[in-house]
Amino acid sequence: MDYKIGVIGPVNLDLIIKGNAPTNINELIEWADLSDVYCITAGAAGNVAQNLKKLGNEIHLVSCVADDNFGTIVLSSLKKSGIQTDFITVEEGKEGGIAIYILLFGDNKRPATYKMPTHHGWPHEISESMRNYLLDTDLLHSSGYLHFSDLWNDDFLNLFKEAKEKGIKTSMDPQFPLKPLDPPWIKVIKPLIPYIDILMVDESEAINITGLNEINEAADMLITEGFEIVAIKLGERGAIVLDKDISEQISAIQPKIIIDSIGAGDAFDAGFLQGLLEGKTLKNSGKMGIKAASMSLQGIDSTEKFPTRALLDF
Ligand SMILES: Nc1ncnc2c1ncn2[C@@H]1O[C@H](COP(=O)(O)OP(=O)(O)OP(=O)(O)O)[C@@H](O)[C@H]1O
Ligand SMILES: [Mg+2]
Repeated sequence: MDYKIGVIGPVNLDLIIKGNAPTNINELIEWADLSDVYCITAGAAGNVAQNLKKLGNEIHLVSCVADDNFGTIVLSSLKKSGIQTDFITVEEGKEGGIAIYILLFGDNKRPATYKMPTHHGWPHEISESMRNYLLDTDLLHSSGYLHFSDLWNDDFLNLFKEAKEKGIKTSMDPQFPLKPLDPPWIKVIKPLIPYIDILMVDESEAINITGLNEINEAADMLITEGFEIVAIKLGERGAIVLDKDISEQISAIQPKIIIDSIGAGDAFDAGFLQGLLEGKTLKNSGKMGIKAASMSLQGIDSTEKFPTRALLDF
């Protein structure tokens, strides 16, 4: 069965340069050679939206782009992937963001450099038509909330409050602050907790959100704080999924080949949310997240090798 899923958060381009460059600095500054270069529509929300679409769901995406070439590429590729772009605001006179991954030295995620967009991560004011669009769904998901401190406002909180009142499932992968923020970051998220059912974070985010040092203690604290379901992604060690009754550590699936691990967390999110929407157990939903992430590692960025629904069964 397919679901209608509202997604609010940032969409941007990823430029990925994959090849082999010398690590000796004197050789490197003289180096000029061929590499594989990809320009991919990504961003925390862009990845989750495209991945959930690939699983057969109808995506109601609300975001912003600039009226520049970056924005044009993002809109056209989202349309090509079957995602409606009517509720993506094009901000005039602004510049789009890009993340540049320089995979020339053997690592599959770093070094990386960024250009921040000058447009909003998602609309500052959420209009009634956007709200209706996001709430005409089975699940409302937010990605990248902590990235954009200028958007920690009542419009966002009221959106999730209304979703809960309507009985819509809600989820969040807050990522991390792009501007310095002292831990515990939970002070920023706390007002939202009553309206968020499912929280998905990685290990360092869990530590920084809670201000604790130990990952299982951090996991327990997130449940005590009021999230119903928590997933903590642990990179090559897999993930912990828990609710108030059970806590399961699930091992990662090592793929035969890792092309890159960019957006693996977003691939996990999409697989995990799909499992929960289908009413699978917490453990089996976690396994779907792990399988989705493992397949994503085998292609460029989060989306290239993200599986269709049939391939997510294990
Ligand atoms: N090197 C790896 N080997 C095997 N699996 C991996 C590896 N790196 C990531 N994964 C898989 O991807 C999932 C998510 O990865 P990670 O912990 O890096 O999330 P994240 O930090 O949220 O990522 P993102 O950068 O996309 O936000 C893990 O739970 C694991 O299943
Ligand atoms: Mg992440």
